[in-house]
Amino acid sequence: MKVLVTGGLGFIGSHTVVELQNKGLEVIIIDDLSNSSEKVLDGIFAITGKKPIFEKLDLKEKSEVEDFFKKHTDISGVIHFAASKAVGESVENPLLYYENNIGTLVYILKELSKKDKASFIFSSSCTVYGQADKMPITEDAPVKTAESPYGNTKQIGEEIISDTCKVTPSLNAIALRYFNPMGAHPSTEIGELPIGVPQNLVPYITQTGIGMREQLSVFGGDYPTEDGTCIRDYIHVVDLAKAHVIALQRLLEGKNDDNYEVFNLGTGTGSSVLEAIKSFEKVSEKKLNYKIVDRRAGDITAAYASTDKANNILGWKAASTLDEAMKSAWDWEVKIRK
Ligand code: UD1
Repeated sequence: MKVLVTGGLGFIGSHTVVELQNKGLEVIIIDDLSNSSEKVLDGIFAITGKKPIFEKLDLKEKSEVEDFFKKHTDISGVIHFAASKAVGESVENPLLYYENNIGTLVYILKELSKKDKASFIFSSSCTVYGQADKMPITEDAPVKTAESPYGNTKQIGEEIISDTCKVTPSLNAIALRYFNPMGAHPSTEIGELPIGVPQNLVPYITQTGIGMREQLSVFGGDYPTEDGTCIRDYIHVVDLAKAHVIALQRLLEGKNDDNYEVFNLGTGTGSSVLEAIKSFEKVSEKKLNYKIVDRRAGDITAAYASTDKANNILGWKAASTLDEAMKSAWDWEVKIRK
């Protein structure tokens, strides 16, 4: 069974490749290396003892995508991670995001629609819910107007897949809405490699802890939460990766109820920014230099997942605690800065 993983050298992609290979699936990675490195292949090899096939390919080049699928006719499933993900950059350069995240999705779906049977897993995000009215957030919560072109690409992406599935019975797809992925493989062979100044909380915490950044700014201490800081659902990337394998197997084995399904991937537990800092201080045995500053524009107060649908239908549940995920993020930071 051959599986194509686009963006397979990225953060979530690389962890998913490991889990696919651990289950005996044959993997082909395509990645344009715009936000990743070929060295990640060595990390995957160190963990699994297998090097996946890798092709450097720019999915924005339609003819290259067509040629790729002509060459690899035996691909039965695709997990599509390749996309741009910086919210601020998407506001500055929306067309880049629509081209990278939407154009490429259309090319891949066109190729998959030609097949007698195809399975497709899409990287979506809890960003589609915006500030949901009720916690925990269930999959049937309304999709709110996107706060950024990045968020919009996830909403439009889901709609494109849903519309395509309606008229393409041979195509089976699942959109996975991630909450806040964090951490690294416990082997410390692969992990997150943010380029430049991290925008996300956990890499900013670990880089401050290691001394690369002087101080963490906590964006807002006056939210209507218990300690005044925002609440998120931080999920260990290995748990997230395992969910992708289960979702893909559901489709490959024809166990899906519908040919387009949506699942939340979170732990079901909300943690505040200050709780994340406390967790870091516990697992690293270091004091973190942080300061509460003004709110960041566009941040929502709270988001955590209802995990019932994924638990009941996929039979998947996140296994790691925040401390375990934070420990893996810290071990990885320590290793790569040595
Ligand atoms: C962000 C994106 C979201 C994307 C997700 C992917 C924004 C507004 N949202 O979500 O669209 O799907 O990443 O992982 O960028 N924080 C600090 N100091 C920091 C960094 C973050 O206090 O230096 C706080 C934030 O205010 C937030 C929490 O930490 O409360 C998590 O932030 P972040 O990691 O950026 O994730 P999200 O904002 O949830």
